[in-house]
Amino acid sequence: MFLRKAFIKGLGLSDDALSRPVIGIANTFSGYNACHGNVPDLIEAVKRGVMLAGGLPVEFPTISLHESFAYPTSMYLRNLMAMDTEEMIRAQPMDSVVLIGGCDKTVPAQIMGAASAGVPAIQLVTGPMLSGSHRGQRVGACTDCRRFWAGYRAGEINDQEISDVNDQLVPSVGTCGVMGTASTMACLVEAMGMMLPNSASAPAVLAERRRLAEQTGEVAVQIAEKQLTPDHIMTPEALENALRVLLAIGGSTNAIIHLTAMAGRLGIDVDLEAFDKMGRTTPVLVNLKPSGQHYMDDLHRAGGLPRIMHEIRHLLHLDQMTINGRTLGENLDAMAEPWPQDVVRTLDDPVYAEGGIAFLKGNLALEGAIIKQSAATPELMSHSGRAVVFSSLEDLAARIDDPDLDVNPDDILVLQNIGPKGAPGMPEAGLIPIPQKLARQGVKDMVRISDGRMSGTASGTIVLHTSPEAAVGGPLGLVRSGDTIRLDVPARSLHLDVEEAELARRKDAQSLFTVPAGTTGYRRLFLENVLQAEAGVDFSFSRPEMKRKIPRQSGK
Ligand code: FES
Repeated sequence: MFLRKAFIKGLGLSDDALSRPVIGIANTFSGYNACHGNVPDLIEAVKRGVMLAGGLPVEFPTISLHESFAYPTSMYLRNLMAMDTEEMIRAQPMDSVVLIGGCDKTVPAQIMGAASAGVPAIQLVTGPMLSGSHRGQRVGACTDCRRFWAGYRAGEINDQEISDVNDQLVPSVGTCGVMGTASTMACLVEAMGMMLPNSASAPAVLAERRRLAEQTGEVAVQIAEKQLTPDHIMTPEALENALRVLLAIGGSTNAIIHLTAMAGRLGIDVDLEAFDKMGRTTPVLVNLKPSGQHYMDDLHRAGGLPRIMHEIRHLLHLDQMTINGRTLGENLDAMAEPWPQDVVRTLDDPVYAEGGIAFLKGNLALEGAIIKQSAATPELMSHSGRAVVFSSLEDLAARIDDPDLDVNPDDILVLQNIGPKGAPGMPEAGLIPIPQKLARQGVKDMVRISDGRMSGTASGTIVLHTSPEAAVGGPLGLVRSGDTIRLDVPARSLHLDVEEAELARRKDAQSLFTVPAGTTGYRRLFLENVLQAEAGVDFSFSRPEMKRKIPRQSGK
């Protein structure tokens, strides 16, 4: 202690300052990360809140991940950020920690790390960017990025327009302005009680975001005094609330992987079949892109997440303690009376009658696969078609736009080897592009199946997270072009119509993934230890023994 004090006094701190609760602030600012461009402002506001409450704020850096600048994929690095966060919290003296994150993988990584470290923690998100304007249309990253790029590929948009819209898609700092992964994770972390009420949707550039940061600093001192560690907040009931909200917001498919990983850090397993049953009684209520029409700043003006939870409060565990010391029910009671708006629908008038995500099983997905049914084409939800198979991302890049590719609009596109080990890192390549020759004929959607992920901002009839992945011997790796695949979302099934004997023959001839000789460092750690989608793509050594399972079949 004598040495520690001597060194920190080198920064000019007094004995009085050092006698206060120490509140760590995880700084994830990076010049590569526009989603975190407001982090310096937020740190200043958090520090103000900490000092107003009598604490000593101490910021420290961790790595930062941006979706566009994390090669080979940000998912490959999420567990590295979780380890960094966990060990820096553990290594340095702090009574509680404020986690400032926002871009897709950062919030799950921070919660995973904090849950494992077991130190009182509160999340603050950077908040969504504003929406932009292009020739009279509102636009926002990144649902509209995909729409405009698809139009450009189809020859509907010229070089000048694609260049013009590029200036408008990300009009400010902050996270993607639709219900993509970042917005979804912000909503889920608020729903599970690890973030202040109504703090998921306040835009990054508003004064309100800074006030939330100040308040977060104040609460960080309170949780330090109460020693309110994440396991007190992230209970099975609180995580069930988050699952329920995921369904009601039509949230990103990535969130199911992240929620599984976050819960797993506390020995809580997510049962995807039970989650699917939960979806049958939880309609999508939020009219936001990519499932609907609006943007995150509209959701905030409509009342934010509390407005959504108010609509489904009969489905929530209202007695759960949240980070501000009040229960979820008390927080919802304190919200303003609802006002007329058209972003959050009522139970009588949902955007989609069931939950946004459905869980599939079958001989093509022995451990399961998922589909975002609220963003799929209704006519394709029960579809049988001929498989057109791509064996890897390289194969896809080489052939997808080949004018001679043997493909029809009714076919099913299959992309193999983009799972956790196969790619590696399970990239967001599950949104297989419509082959250019079909796009030019006006084809907008086809059934597409892979063992990878998809951006939360994307839409289409896309089956994802097929497990086990092709690289480790999953049946997806046995599909050949010309096979027939049957997708039946209402029956929750994904079936490959090939004789068992033929599948066995193909399996015998299949070469399985091995860690390439000479692989060192983090890549080796990743390849040797990463788990499949149903275990959250976490590392085997980061998950304790699973002692509880959610959602439970009893009660809500
Ligand atoms: Fe950061 Fe979308 S790129 S939230």
